[in-house]
Amino acid sequence: MSRETEAIKERLNIADVVSEYVKLKQAGQSMKGLCPFHQEKTPSFIVTPRKGSWHCFGCQKGGDVITFIQEIEGLEFPAALKLLADRAGVQLPDYKPQVENRRQRLYDLLATTTRLYHEILMNQKAGAQAKEYLVGRGLTEKTMEEFTVGYAPHSWDTLSMWLKKKGYTEEEMVAAGMVGMKDKGGTFDRFRGRIMFPVSDTQGRVVAFGGRIVPWHETGNEGKYVNSPETALYEKRRTVYNLSRAKRHLKNSTPCIVVEGYMDVVMLVQAGVENVVATSGTAMTDDHVALIGRFTNVLHLAFDGDAAGWKATIAATSAALAGGMRVETIVFSDGIDPADLVKDTPDAVQGALAATRPLVDVLVERIGAGSPQQREQALAALLPLLRIVRNPIEQGAMVDRVSRLLKIPDRQIVELMQKESAPPAIVRAAAPVQEEAFEDPREAMLERQLLGVLLAHPEMLASDAASLSSDLFLDPMCRQVYNEIQRTQQSSQSLPEQYQSFLVALQARAEELAATSSFSPQEEVRTMVRALHRRYIRSQLHRLAQEGSPGALVEFQIELTKLAEIDA
Ligand code: UTP
Ligand code: MN
Repeated sequence: MSRETEAIKERLNIADVVSEYVKLKQAGQSMKGLCPFHQEKTPSFIVTPRKGSWHCFGCQKGGDVITFIQEIEGLEFPAALKLLADRAGVQLPDYKPQVENRRQRLYDLLATTTRLYHEILMNQKAGAQAKEYLVGRGLTEKTMEEFTVGYAPHSWDTLSMWLKKKGYTEEEMVAAGMVGMKDKGGTFDRFRGRIMFPVSDTQGRVVAFGGRIVPWHETGNEGKYVNSPETALYEKRRTVYNLSRAKRHLKNSTPCIVVEGYMDVVMLVQAGVENVVATSGTAMTDDHVALIGRFTNVLHLAFDGDAAGWKATIAATSAALAGGMRVETIVFSDGIDPADLVKDTPDAVQGALAATRPLVDVLVERIGAGSPQQREQALAALLPLLRIVRNPIEQGAMVDRVSRLLKIPDRQIVELMQKESAPPAIVRAAAPVQEEAFEDPREAMLERQLLGVLLAHPEMLASDAASLSSDLFLDPMCRQVYNEIQRTQQSSQSLPEQYQSFLVALQARAEELAATSSFSPQEEVRTMVRALHRRYIRSQLHRLAQEGSPGALVEFQIELTKLAEIDA
């Protein structure tokens, strides 16, 4: 345990930290409460301040104050440590103060922007009509406060002037995604005449905005919503609107309700539904699924009752099933979204949300199952979905349902599922043969060691490691990091923040290697690259052998030659 970790544990009382999430009662030397990690009616969650530990006798989870924060906030160790260090007033060794400082300034810039827009909406004349509009849509002032909703006035420079006064440079305003650069020089505010929804990361820091045009400034040429561009702080495919709030209300099997829009989230929370998030403006990605999956394994999709909502439901269901989630859908009538429901019939909301149905049922209902032709169509639509389900129990249940609804024997469905060989693209994207990646821990280590060395010597990407490609990495995180360093040709210093904790792990692997190896980094890299190629070709051979078609046999020969070349 590092000196800092020790200091943090010494200074913080675990009972105080846990109490922010769990109601605790004294019970002898310890304290007792309802476990936040599984559902229970009688408390079996124990905190023992004297030992600085916690344990649940129900779900058997336990640990120290750091693991508690990791679990409940869904953070990796370094991020949890950072959070607690700030709280305990412990200085962590900071080997990149410049990078940290710059990021912090961008967070601060967005925080002050949030306050400015919120103040304009709530208290300034420039925001009066916008507030009226929101009230007319059913939003209370309390909800506006809770989500720090704001208004960006219809002006080209209100924000940039404000930020300049606060000491921010134009370059920082652009980097935070808040202003654009004019061709002739100078800047313009990106959001004008828009209701502003601040978007936070999992830790609750504002990283972006979604802005809805107000009707009286609508010309028909601008998007109804404009979202911040991707920045050093904001990656769309990894950001879930309202997860930072909702996570406190999610436990292992509490469903996370996913809706389409900002208004849907805000209105549902106002109606007392806290376990709700949105992907805001993008389709649900496997990263979104993984992020929510840190808190719960059940998703309820409540997308708009229109064609786009229906398409989104199918796509999101696929991503979620491929991510091992259990999924149900909530179907709204034509043209209705959750926000409308809250406004028009507040008493019907709970009922509507409780009426979830498996997508399989809804699909079959839509297509119909009366004629043999309809049943065939329904089955064709369902097969790809059945194939990608990661959780075998869920898959069994789905096959069962389809069998009953379409009156086709289980056996026959399973056969058909196995027949079509190529899995749909989404599976390949979402679940890159993970089992294989972790079957042999040395293999996982190999990828990390290689990346670790490359981060220290990025110049080798163009020489000794030039033959690498991202397909060679099985570990999704390694693959992402590889793509990132390949794209930027940079060392670890400038990689986006979400990789930072992982980078620490990579550096550790590389240091281990350096300590145990008598070879040069170049030689090590060449050996490791060869090993990755070999593994990839072997997996290709395996796949081709199973396929057994004439074309596959030709490819098989080609791959064999490549393997011989590598080993020569
Ligand atoms: P909707 O068109 O359903 O909007 O888009 P909404 O949330 O119901 O908003 P109101 O009720 O008309 O005010 C759903 C979500 O899709 C994204 C936004 O995140 C929006 O909340 N979106 C929509 C965009 O990113 N850009 C657009 O032009 C439209
Ligand atoms: Mn909508």
